[in-house]
Amino acid sequence: MIAIGCDHAGVELKKAVIAALEEKGFKLMDMGTDGEPCDYPDMAEKVCREVTSGNCEKGILICGTGIGMSMAANKIKGIRAALCSDSFSTKFTRLHNDANVMCMGARTLGPGLACELAEIFLTTGFEGGRHQRRVDLITALESK
Ligand code: RB5
Repeated sequence: MIAIGCDHAGVELKKAVIAALEEKGFKLMDMGTDGEPCDYPDMAEKVCREVTSGNCEKGILICGTGIGMSMAANKIKGIRAALCSDSFSTKFTRLHNDANVMCMGARTLGPGLACELAEIFLTTGFEGGRHQRRVDLITALESK
């Protein structure tokens, strides 16, 4: 299960991403907003809690730029959120950083690219090996 959420700026892009991913067979849990104005940190927390609790395997967050969502998401223990806007970074944040949340900007990405990035994010595995040590070092920063 994949948790997905957005603020008011991301509603249309979120709909497009959900439709594209469902067509590929992914199961999504839509945490809102359906259009009512909301504050992106609240939505980031909602989606990220689904990931840290183990309810959802990964999360997708959409706001105007994706930046506010990624700032908020990365404050939550256990979350490694990546702002994704190109396919290379999206692939490598899974391979090397084991990112568990992707953030995208509805005002910076078109739906075609966003849907492609979401699919890359959800289908690329973590490489482990030397990257596991580095991910562990990121986690260690949470308790310093
Ligand atoms: C909302 O207008 C906008 O500030 C928000 O969607 C996001 O871009 C913040 O980073």
